[in-house]
Amino acid sequence: MTDRKKLVAGNWKMNGLRASLTEVRAMVQGASAIPSVDLVVCPPATIASSVGELLKGSPIGLGGQDCHAAISGAFTGEVSAEMWADLGARYVILGHSERRTMQGETDVSVASKAAAAFRAGLTPIICVGESLPERDSGETLTVVRGQLAGSIPAAAGSMPTIIAYEPVWAIGTGRTPTLAQVAEVHQAMVEALTARFGAAAGNIRLLYGGSVKPENAPELMQTAGVDGALVGGASLKAADFLKIASACA
Ligand code: 13P
Repeated sequence: MTDRKKLVAGNWKMNGLRASLTEVRAMVQGASAIPSVDLVVCPPATIASSVGELLKGSPIGLGGQDCHAAISGAFTGEVSAEMWADLGARYVILGHSERRTMQGETDVSVASKAAAAFRAGLTPIICVGESLPERDSGETLTVVRGQLAGSIPAAAGSMPTIIAYEPVWAIGTGRTPTLAQVAEVHQAMVEALTARFGAAAGNIRLLYGGSVKPENAPELMQTAGVDGALVGGASLKAADFLKIASACA
């Protein structure tokens, strides 16, 4: 366990209509009871403005789920880091495995998006994690080290940065790694980041993500090297999201 303030971020993915704003209101109400944990909600772009209005003045931060590397331009369908910042967002998730596999994102594209996030004053939440075949063939640490080396720009040594370890096979499956497996990967990440950034690596918070639920959050969140959670499905309901956050307190 570290003494860094823990952070729980909800990745709503492609979920959430305006009716979901009631959940955001409930999150805002509950958040003040958990001041020792940083909270972030990353809604879909369509309701991000409305969510941002509700979060204004609350302890919960707003985040995007991706951004383009350019400031603006002819990129139909894309959202820039500057646009997220303009909306009041403070965070952006980058390199999620769903984008790496379905949108063909590479370490190089993730690194350029992270640089864009820094440029706009956003804190990137950069995702890494192995697939099941990679885990089964004993390549987990090699894969994660490679993603860290390739996806994190040099500026991460001096800018607020968050890393989320999300084993692909744990996302949306109800399966989670053992606590020893989580601790092993987080320790390897600390070592890799320290080798690259020195003492500044101590400022980089390391989240775990993949089937985090209220039931398993207490043990996952108290695992060595875990500074919080990136939560998918369980972040859509205020009660579950707040229970997970309470497990960090
Ligand atoms: P689940 O919590 O639904 O497994 O999703 C995890 C995730 O991908 C968060 O980014």
